[in-house]
Amino acid sequence: MEKITSLAKRRGFVFQSSEIYGGQNGAWDYGPLGIELKNRIAGAWWKEMTQLHDDIAGLDAAILMHPRTWEASGHVENFTDPLVDCKKCKSRFRADMIPEENLTAKKCPDCGGELTDTRKFNLMFKSHIGPAEDTASVIYLRPETAQGIYVNYKNIIQSNRMKIPFGIAQIGKAFRNEIVTKNFIFRTCEFEQMEMQYFVKPGTDEEWFNEWRKRRWAYYEKLGVKMDHLRWHQHGADELAHYAKDAYDIQYLFPMGWRELEGVHNRTDYDLGRHSQFSGKDMQYIDQDNNNERYIPYIIETSAGLTRNVLMILCDAYDEEKVADKGDADDIRTVLRFHPNLAPVTVAVLPLMKKDGLAELAQGIRAELKEDYATDYDQSGAIGRRYRRQDEAGTPFCVTVDYQSKEDGTVTLRFRDSMEQIRIPKAELAARIKQEIKGYKRIK
Ligand code: GAP
Repeated sequence: MEKITSLAKRRGFVFQSSEIYGGQNGAWDYGPLGIELKNRIAGAWWKEMTQLHDDIAGLDAAILMHPRTWEASGHVENFTDPLVDCKKCKSRFRADMIPEENLTAKKCPDCGGELTDTRKFNLMFKSHIGPAEDTASVIYLRPETAQGIYVNYKNIIQSNRMKIPFGIAQIGKAFRNEIVTKNFIFRTCEFEQMEMQYFVKPGTDEEWFNEWRKRRWAYYEKLGVKMDHLRWHQHGADELAHYAKDAYDIQYLFPMGWRELEGVHNRTDYDLGRHSQFSGKDMQYIDQDNNNERYIPYIIETSAGLTRNVLMILCDAYDEEKVADKGDADDIRTVLRFHPNLAPVTVAVLPLMKKDGLAELAQGIRAELKEDYATDYDQSGAIGRRYRRQDEAGTPFCVTVDYQSKEDGTVTLRFRDSMEQIRIPKAELAARIKQEIKGYKRIK
């Protein structure tokens, strides 16, 4: 993880938030390569959910919601972590994350000092809206994006003439006052989620739950993720969230071990039932194709962390490889083996020399490729070093422009994974890259 964190900073994927003030715990900034990667991951998910599913509509709901939302959802009452403090060193722990014997003996795992009793700590960030700081002005930062979908479900049925079963997809920020925020961007206080809520007829929920598990698994396979680094984990009774009848996590083998990447939950009619009760509005679905049968739909939720997916994709892509391309048999290259659809830069254009018109020629090629691809241009340093810089950024294709290019209009196309180089006419570049992306297979 240290290597990935350091590469992420060095190459401008992720920076510590407010670093010049010593950093802000639980918050991170996405640099030029990081925001591209995050946008591509979000784009892949969005395409999967909306473009490839006729029965799913998109939404972007506000982060600030009426505070009754969070009473109805159960978050005010139930969204808590058990917390203990050390009276001596003042460290704070999640009671469920320290060894049982420390908890029983009330002994700090760090300094051996005495621990306080366990208390419940609500994870929602609370603030006030408007000038008065009283109970009437309390407002929360949403701890999950899902509730924005539930309160809009009738609007979407009406505006889009949706019929059950159907889904609503949303990507957006969520906030949790996490007590433990280690492991880089794995668990943070400010993060992004990609959530899809699928509304189904009660009684068909288990079938749809299994179907969405299958689809989410296939999605990661399509992204080119190492499938032996993914596994299912079913929630035991003690792990189930207050709204869930059944839940499975897709776990990924991160450098610190197996951890949750995404959850698939059967939320039953809990959320819509509660919103109906708290708002006084009828949340029933009227099945016009079935004698106007009325019911509160069950909800199957797929909930993935976007920022956690960024970490997963970084870990999954990270590779160090012994290469001998510079004459040293022990030379190691660091390479991010991103799927070309996720790579922040798809193609880098590199003139062999700055002089003799090669730079101008290379810039012209870049300008043409820009229309179709995210490009980079680099003219400084030895060509081998420039390739390595692109390998580290995960750029799948490099185009090198040399003296022969001036004569016959051909260029070198270099492939990141195999380091193979081929010579092709520059006019064929865009089409060849497209073909390579379509047929991309991970080799390592
Ligand atoms: N709407 C259901 C829900 O929010 P969750 O299991 O609490 O369920 C879903 O969160 C996903 O959101 C997780 O699998 C994880 O990827 C991401 N996530 C949750 N808390 C996070 C945090 N503090 N930092 C980063 N990602 C988080």
